[in-house]
Amino acid sequence: MMPPDRAGPSPSPFRADVLAGRSALVTGGSTGIGLAIAEALARHGASVHLVGRDRDRLATALAAVERVAAGRATVHAADVRDAEGIEALAQRVGAVDVLVNAAAGNFPVPFTAMSRNAWQSVVGIVLDGTANTLRSLGARMLEAAQGDGRARLVVNVVAGYAWTGAPGVAHSGAAKAGVLSLTRSLAVEWAPHVRVNAVSPGPVDGTEGVKRLADDLGLRARLEAAVPMGRLAQAAEVADAVLWLAGGASYVTGACVVVDGGMDAKGPFADVFG
Ligand code: COA
Repeated sequence: MMPPDRAGPSPSPFRADVLAGRSALVTGGSTGIGLAIAEALARHGASVHLVGRDRDRLATALAAVERVAAGRATVHAADVRDAEGIEALAQRVGAVDVLVNAAAGNFPVPFTAMSRNAWQSVVGIVLDGTANTLRSLGARMLEAAQGDGRARLVVNVVAGYAWTGAPGVAHSGAAKAGVLSLTRSLAVEWAPHVRVNAVSPGPVDGTEGVKRLADDLGLRARLEAAVPMGRLAQAAEVADAVLWLAGGASYVTGACVVVDGGMDAKGPFADVFG
């Protein structure tokens, strides 16, 4: 018999209208984890702004959200590295209720072969890009929350190697560690008006990250075997955590919700004694 953990995402514990009247903006919203988060928020009543660089992928994402929640999605072509472009986007969109920073870039390369440009490319998207949206959108959310007394929420997508080593992806590891630190700093600065949390996914099936870091290197079987739950995550399982932060979790700020099938809990001894 198939174990229950193979069943994938559980049915939503939230009412379908729990986020009705709320707005959300998701960077990296056209594919993978970002798209799954946008779908989950829209399915529960939020209107969602999807931000991505590629217009074709945005169009496909818009159609996907329309299928689950008609009329609730808007797409915006923008690069999170472009601070002025993000500021212009924030002027158009205004103060959203939920900001999700899911935009990421990554490629495996040993540090000695990593050019300054390669470093800057990834750190520019992950760390500077997150700071850009926080500066433009987050600041407006803070002001709005101080004005109307309704708490807003930021969720930053990080990775387990924000607090462990990141061989082969030192640029991404350093950037995610920076985002985790930023999460905690702003959680304190912006309390109680804006809750600022992180979500840390393990490897998620069907994402560009798993393609680049596992599939392209022939490492999928080893990766699956390294996860205590014995499988990769589905993007919707990561979205569940964001839904919980958005639909409830009113006293949770500065936290990092780990959704990794037990990878972080495993530690070094599991490989020796497991
Ligand atoms: N190995 C080594 N260096 C690489 C590389 C690789 N696989 N890919 C890019 N680089 C280097 C380039 O050589 C260049 O450095 P150089 O000028 O010194 O030669 C630098 O990185 C920038 O390359 P460029 O192609 O201009 O980067 P970019 O900023 O346009 O694109 C990404 C980089 C990450 C945005 C791009 O790969 C991308 O769109 N990725 C898809 C999203 C993604 O990575 N998702 C996974 C998230 S986990």
